[in-house]
Amino acid sequence: MNYRHAFHAGNFADLVKHAALLHLLAALQADKAPLRIIDTHAGSGLYDLRGPQAQRSGEAQAGVMRMMGAGDRPEALDDLVRAVTAANDGAGEPWLYPGSPWLIAQALRPADTYLACEMQAEEQARLAQVVGAMPGVRTLCGDGFAEAAQVLDAKARQLVLIDPPFEKADDYDRIAVLAGETLARSPKTHFLIWLPLKDLETFDGFLRDLEDACEPAPLLVVEARMRPLGDPMKMNGCALVLINPPDGLEAPLQAAADWVTAVEPGGQARVWALG
Ligand SMILES: C[S@@+](CC[C@H](N)C(=O)[O-])C[C@H]1O[C@@H](n2cnc3c(N)ncnc32)[C@H](O)[C@@H]1O
Repeated sequence: MNYRHAFHAGNFADLVKHAALLHLLAALQADKAPLRIIDTHAGSGLYDLRGPQAQRSGEAQAGVMRMMGAGDRPEALDDLVRAVTAANDGAGEPWLYPGSPWLIAQALRPADTYLACEMQAEEQARLAQVVGAMPGVRTLCGDGFAEAAQVLDAKARQLVLIDPPFEKADDYDRIAVLAGETLARSPKTHFLIWLPLKDLETFDGFLRDLEDACEPAPLLVVEARMRPLGDPMKMNGCALVLINPPDGLEAPLQAAADWVTAVEPGGQARVWALG
């Protein structure tokens, strides 16, 4: 396993994912009942944008740096801007980017819980340092797909975040299997799934498998294309799939993805319901 999220932290795809995560959390927390959140692929929680990995890729420049300095950004990004500012203690130009564990841990209410799974020991050690001591949080080093299946509580209100590196060919299948098996036991479980957009065949094939596995649960798809899906060797954009989405997310997710993709001449975003 070679993947290190530090190269990509705060890039365009993180903005789409994390803006959506914050909207989803806010919508689910509008209900007072406690929420149990499981993050299958957590990463290390907080990323140094001045570190060698971020500096080498330069991806944060067109992502979080552009967002923080923009005068034209939509309200749909306000919560993410606030979170980045808070992660940097409100100081000037951001040098830390908060990953999903930091964003979730900060948003927990007293009765909510969060389980963050990370397979790489070094990343997990940092994750434990960053969020491990926060109330309601547990981190573990292990396979997030297997852990999520094991800890499922059919009686709880749950959100499962699935954000693999897609280095392994079976990541797509494992997402569909985990979602299908979870919904069979706990049909109202909410999911947020992140995917790279490379070519249409892979994307369409995954959506078909997911729809079959999850039926009759409703799915909401967010597509953020930075360029046409011509070269399957490139990440041409990213997509999110929300399973059992709460009402009212279409407009803010469209606005956030529109702004993120508008930076590229061929960029376009689309939010649509499936199933
Ligand atoms: C895209 S990053 C996660 C980023 C994080 N969700 C965020 O938004 O800040 C994917 C992470 O999954 C980890 N990983 C890869 N395979 C895994 C598995 N089977 N179970 C748990 N973690 C895994 C990688 O080490 C990497 O840190």
